[in-house]
Amino acid sequence: MSRIDQLRSRLEAVGQSHLLTFASDLSESELAALVVQVEAIDLHQLPALIDRYVRSEAPASVPNDLEPAPYYARNARDWDARHYRALGEDLLEAGRVACFTVAGGQGSRLGYEGPKGCYPTAPVSGKSLFQIFAEKIRGAERTYGADVPWYVMTSPINHDETRRYFARWDYFDLDPQNIMFFTQGTMPSFDKVSGRILLAEKGTIATNPDGHGGALRALHVSGALADMKRRGIEVLSYFQVDNPNVNITDPVFIGLHAAAPDSSGEMSSKMVPKTGPDEKVGVFCRSGGKLHVIEYSDLPSSLAQARDANGQLRFLAGSIAIHLLSVSFVDKVNADPSFALPWHRAVKKVPYIDLQTGQRVDPKEPNAVKLERFVFDAIPLARSSIVLETDRVEEFAPVKNATGVDSIETSRQLQTEKAARWLEAVGVKVPRRADGRPDCVLELSGVTAIEPERLDRQSLPQSIDPGSVVAI
Ligand code: UD1
Repeated sequence: MSRIDQLRSRLEAVGQSHLLTFASDLSESELAALVVQVEAIDLHQLPALIDRYVRSEAPASVPNDLEPAPYYARNARDWDARHYRALGEDLLEAGRVACFTVAGGQGSRLGYEGPKGCYPTAPVSGKSLFQIFAEKIRGAERTYGADVPWYVMTSPINHDETRRYFARWDYFDLDPQNIMFFTQGTMPSFDKVSGRILLAEKGTIATNPDGHGGALRALHVSGALADMKRRGIEVLSYFQVDNPNVNITDPVFIGLHAAAPDSSGEMSSKMVPKTGPDEKVGVFCRSGGKLHVIEYSDLPSSLAQARDANGQLRFLAGSIAIHLLSVSFVDKVNADPSFALPWHRAVKKVPYIDLQTGQRVDPKEPNAVKLERFVFDAIPLARSSIVLETDRVEEFAPVKNATGVDSIETSRQLQTEKAARWLEAVGVKVPRRADGRPDCVLELSGVTAIEPERLDRQSLPQSIDPGSVVAI
């Protein structure tokens, strides 16, 4: 039997032989590429996966003993932030901390056809998200006198373009040796009715990135984990590419993660109090003695709406997708041969090749199931995981939508507000409107300072003129 015949019979056994429908139309190299793609799929697992996630619309299983998660409240006196800050600073000064950005997504929700990290985001200069992070890393390296390596997870959709972008900008003055790009894995996209894998071209399977949860495996497979071990990195500061206000090297958070009595030092998270029951953020909960994030779309409405005796949301702790992961934890989960995070199902529009006509179809309605893994599903794998409350303006200004909530406009306002607070903290007069908002547009680079206490008062203006646009 030829290799193709063998493959065909293996595909027939799992109901996917249509993938070879156009085999005879393909050139030798196209066929070889298709075979490689098919062979990369775990065919054995496929029927069960399709039954469970593709053809069924079973609601996500939410544990029935959900309790709100405890957290370290900001500015509370029952824990010593100064102590943990000192510990975190020690780790930063010893070069034990690296940054990790998940940047597999495109800017399509923003109407931007490129890697989301390239999206012009800073309110005055229009610097991209990647440049904003790069400048924070430069600021941290200068402050702590140590390298802060940067791991950037891309997806096959944007890997080359992301690399070219960094090269074109000369790595934003970072040492290119300290930036490592690697791609996450992919999953086939499925027809939502038949469960068949879709063809994107006659010789190409339609795939989608496997979610940021794919990061845990990709860190290992790509060699990034080995690179971290070689460099003596212990803690990974994880953040999403869409959030320019993130504090990428927070010493208090790092210290708590490493040494809090209830932290196993494996995976920790930051939260902000939700603005209301409908805010689209995951929520920190406890179940079976473990910390979990329940995605907003999975949290039953009765729980999302529930309030305590003071009228406060019971499930208040919103996930802003900021975590710390220890290198040994990522290593541990990968050492387990059965390690796999659960899949989450999303129904989307995916163009495909019609098997009868061979023509490409651009569906008007969602026709396909994409399966993704979420990084926060790794939290319950940690022995004991902590949550730290942070300030919304200080750390959460996501750019997700073209307009409205979490848009470029709200992000730029939050970036300005954060800069205004920092300047005011060292005595610079910032004009404010009657409603309290800054009457100016401000931008503060991470190269200038990574924390307000580190701003050099001498090099700052006395005051900002009303209506002015200032980058510092
Ligand atoms: C996400 C979180 C949500 C959290 C919110 C905070 C998920 C499923 N939900 O929502 O709990 O409260 O952010 O802002 O993540 N990415 C990859 N590869 C992928 C998919 C995504 O790298 O395969 C990256 C994207 O580039 C982006 C991030 O993950 O940086 C977030 O993905 P997105 O799907 O936009 O999640 P949100 O719905 O914004």
